[in-house]
Amino acid sequence: MKKLVVFISGNGSNLQAIIDACNSGELAATIVCVISNKNNVYGLERAQKNNIPTFIKEKFSNQTREQYDAELAELIFTYQPDLIILAGWMRLLSNTFLQCFPRKVINLHPALPGMFPGINAIEQAFNAYQLGHIKQTGVMVHFVPDEGIDNGPVIAKKTVAINSDDDLASLTQRIHQAEHELLIEVLKKI
Ligand code: GRF
Repeated sequence: MKKLVVFISGNGSNLQAIIDACNSGELAATIVCVISNKNNVYGLERAQKNNIPTFIKEKFSNQTREQYDAELAELIFTYQPDLIILAGWMRLLSNTFLQCFPRKVINLHPALPGMFPGINAIEQAFNAYQLGHIKQTGVMVHFVPDEGIDNGPVIAKKTVAINSDDDLASLTQRIHQAEHELLIEVLKKI
């Protein structure tokens, strides 16, 4: 059984896709813990319902980014994970953390490689489509080797069509569906 650690910051629908795939046996893996940098997010409930240990790691204002990341690395290290999955994690990890887990951190981004890094990627893609700048968007999973934002060696990507009758909500829903599928495909592969 491969040991997975999942980092979240919110709703956790991608976490749910991993939980379901582990529970059904589709993935020969177990989630050893879920980390959230925010309190009271629904993803934490999803983990707790499945008896997965959860940790809320909020950053204190008197802490440097490196101190926060060193504490986080120490916590994760005790679990000896095979893979750390950033599934909707909204904090940039510094090299202090990343150098402890080389080739073990992967990130999911709701856009194609090189497109719309950072927050609101789906909205940015939708706006770009309306301006005629792009015809389609997509999702990708990549390794996180360094502090680059939503950037790193691509493991897999999937294009998602944007339809002329789409609004932001319908596109968002299709992107999330594609993310859930791609993430599980990638986890099966690696
Ligand atoms: C996903 O679109 C992820 O790619 C992005 O944030 C969203 C999180 O969704 N970084 P969820 O919390 O997994 O439902």
